[in-house]
Amino acid sequence: MQTRYEIGPRTFLLDADKAQAALAGKRVIGGRETMSFNLLPLRYGWAYELYRTMKANHWEPEDVPMAKDIEQWRDPRALTDIDRWIVRMGIGYFSAAEGIVGDNVIHVVRELVTAAELKLVLGRHAHEENIHADSLLYMISSLGIDPHECEAMFDDIPTIVAKNRFVTDVSRELRRDLDMNDPAAKRLLAKNVFVFGQCMEGTQFYGLFGMILSLYRQGKLTGIGTMFRYTLRDESNHIEVFRRLLLELAAENPEIWTEDFREELRELMREAVTLEQRFIADCLPVEGMGLSAEDFSQYIDHIADRRLVACGLEPLHHIAIENPLPWLAELMDVRKEQNFFEGRVTEYQKASSLAMVADDEL
Ligand SMILES: [Fe+2]
Ligand SMILES: [Fe+2]
Repeated sequence: MQTRYEIGPRTFLLDADKAQAALAGKRVIGGRETMSFNLLPLRYGWAYELYRTMKANHWEPEDVPMAKDIEQWRDPRALTDIDRWIVRMGIGYFSAAEGIVGDNVIHVVRELVTAAELKLVLGRHAHEENIHADSLLYMISSLGIDPHECEAMFDDIPTIVAKNRFVTDVSRELRRDLDMNDPAAKRLLAKNVFVFGQCMEGTQFYGLFGMILSLYRQGKLTGIGTMFRYTLRDESNHIEVFRRLLLELAAENPEIWTEDFREELRELMREAVTLEQRFIADCLPVEGMGLSAEDFSQYIDHIADRRLVACGLEPLHHIAIENPLPWLAELMDVRKEQNFFEGRVTEYQKASSLAMVADDEL
């Protein structure tokens, strides 16, 4: 079928069949190669929707005032030793972990996917990791923490080294020329997307997120807590991008989604949970107010099972693990506040988004 446009003396013919063929040729991997970055027609509508949601959540670290945090950090009575240790562990771990995620998105996953709308959302994902890394830099400079300490934490705390090796090994496996028609290579990508999205961003980030939000709840370091809340809102979208990507990859390549492979993914989650629980023990060698290593460990068991089930995998525990920190869900789920305001923007959104809503309401 052709659509005909006659503009003055010239006639243009558009071939609808070609657009259909382009749509049919879109795949997560091994799709039609094109240099034109054609978003339309969209095959993966969810990717574009997530891109729009992520864009509407845009934030900049400098928007968050840090004066009260600086005052508390300098006041020896305002924070306990364990509060300060959690902040150091948080800043030490995340200042490099955010970069590891962003680098894997750009140099591995975005390189291998072929549909333009998937590349679009992954570009935004990587950009948000830059914002998160930048927010850590802003925290470090505001509090006057020696930047060399962050590097040292990354090298010298064995539980941090182990968590990072777990993900960088998976990323390295794909950083070479692979034939992506080979089911073994497809599985490496599926494993990467599962480990980064569900094990790392979806589970291993949540121990420290929870501890820092526990401080926030007590009115301690609320600037840092606010940045972590914004980061968490972004992370929930990253987990969803990678979850959808994994499910699409499995649906388009059913030969990889065997029982053995699904079991391999569950084992990877089991390893991620163990690494995270050891890390939590290092973060909380003694209990602080509202901070018990046992509760945070149980929280990790709880969240890991939720991630597995969301990917269509069996949970690690057959009896549901209760969430020991129900307040955390409220603080973490910034989107709930959006629902509360019936879909209108929250105070966290930028002025430009606010202006758009005002226009829509007219
Ligand atoms: Fe992040
Ligand atoms: Fe992320």
